[in-house]
Amino acid sequence: MLAGKRILLIIGGGIAAYKAAELIRLIRGQGGAVTPVMTGAAAEFVTPLTVSSLAGEAVHRDLFDLTHEAEIGHIQLSRAADLVVVAPATADLMAKMAAGLANDLASTLLLATDKRVLIAPAMNVRMWHHPATQRNLAQLGADGVLCVGPNAGDMACGEHGLGRMAEPAEILAAITAALADGPLKGRHVLVTSGPTHEPIDPVRYIANRSSGAQGTALAAALRDLGARVTFVTGPATVPPPAGVTVVRVETAREMLAAVEAALPAEAAVFAAAVADWRVANAAGQKMKKDGSGRAPALEFAENPDILATVSKRSAGRPRLVVGFAAETHEVERHATEKRARKGCDWIVANDVSPGTGIMGGTENAVTIIDAGGAEHWERMGKDAVARRLAARIAAALGAD
Ligand code: C5P
Repeated sequence: MLAGKRILLIIGGGIAAYKAAELIRLIRGQGGAVTPVMTGAAAEFVTPLTVSSLAGEAVHRDLFDLTHEAEIGHIQLSRAADLVVVAPATADLMAKMAAGLANDLASTLLLATDKRVLIAPAMNVRMWHHPATQRNLAQLGADGVLCVGPNAGDMACGEHGLGRMAEPAEILAAITAALADGPLKGRHVLVTSGPTHEPIDPVRYIANRSSGAQGTALAAALRDLGARVTFVTGPATVPPPAGVTVVRVETAREMLAAVEAALPAEAAVFAAAVADWRVANAAGQKMKKDGSGRAPALEFAENPDILATVSKRSAGRPRLVVGFAAETHEVERHATEKRARKGCDWIVANDVSPGTGIMGGTENAVTIIDAGGAEHWERMGKDAVARRLAARIAAALGAD
């Protein structure tokens, strides 16, 4: 699957560096070639001899290695690859990338490359959740850097939580996706997914039952057609797909900001179940019972309609804007009205009335409403709906 492709693999300094050795084996097993680069710290965790033996190529380590400089030139190194992969991507490497620093070979290559970059973060759970790392992650997402993982689990340091590097097989899947050749190759497509959480106070929130399954399947299907997907997701129960740029948000207003930051895009698909209202009088501190027996009164304010806002943009509107409509009766009439009201190009409508088993289930029966009228699709799996919809989007965007 990777025949003829060259991966510039930057190995950062972390205990997960040993998994990079397995990743090299997997890439080569698929016919790909690996140019290995190790940071100084990486060589403390896994030997350059192991890495070069598996890659079948010399390891590059120093910025000022005159032998290599004379042979290829390090800028050249970063351009000769089809994809740059950073695994493990340490907190330090992510910070350097986000800031645009170039003070060693790895960071210089990352700043000099004109190719897509995929990172597989790996770090202690507290380092991962630190606001600085999350800020850097958001910046990297905005810069178009792809991310796979991290996963939750036990860590070498004895703690438990998010921060374990994605498994080599998952990273391989993300690499294959990033290099996929298809009708949407190189096209930027935006997908929103999942529910939103609207805070009542710092510990309580209002949410809905969206799992994010349909949006996730759609992002994966668009990725498989070669699209560069930005996936803006609320706190969903299903994990985001590999090989897409994931932007995590909580509230509707954060989702709108993330969507606007991710534009321009050629197509935008709004599969998120966005809360219509937020709590206007959310408390800055945890609300306490005051012993009076009185319950607090929540006041609500309307959230921005992200789909309508993007559909009605005068400048920078995606060529194709697709909304969803979950209805319980008169699906076609309501969805047609919704299309007109929101100003989007297509509405993907589904009947979520009780008894259909669609809400929270694995199947969906949708009707596509566009300028030409309604098109009914037979009931099928949500993955199949996603693939058929992705193909319809590719056809609508045309060959170039
Ligand atoms: O109005 P309704 O919630 O039924 O519209 C559903 C469609 O609008 C979905 O595509 C959903 O993602 C989008 N939407 C939005 N922002 C909102 C509400 C809905 O993008 N605040």
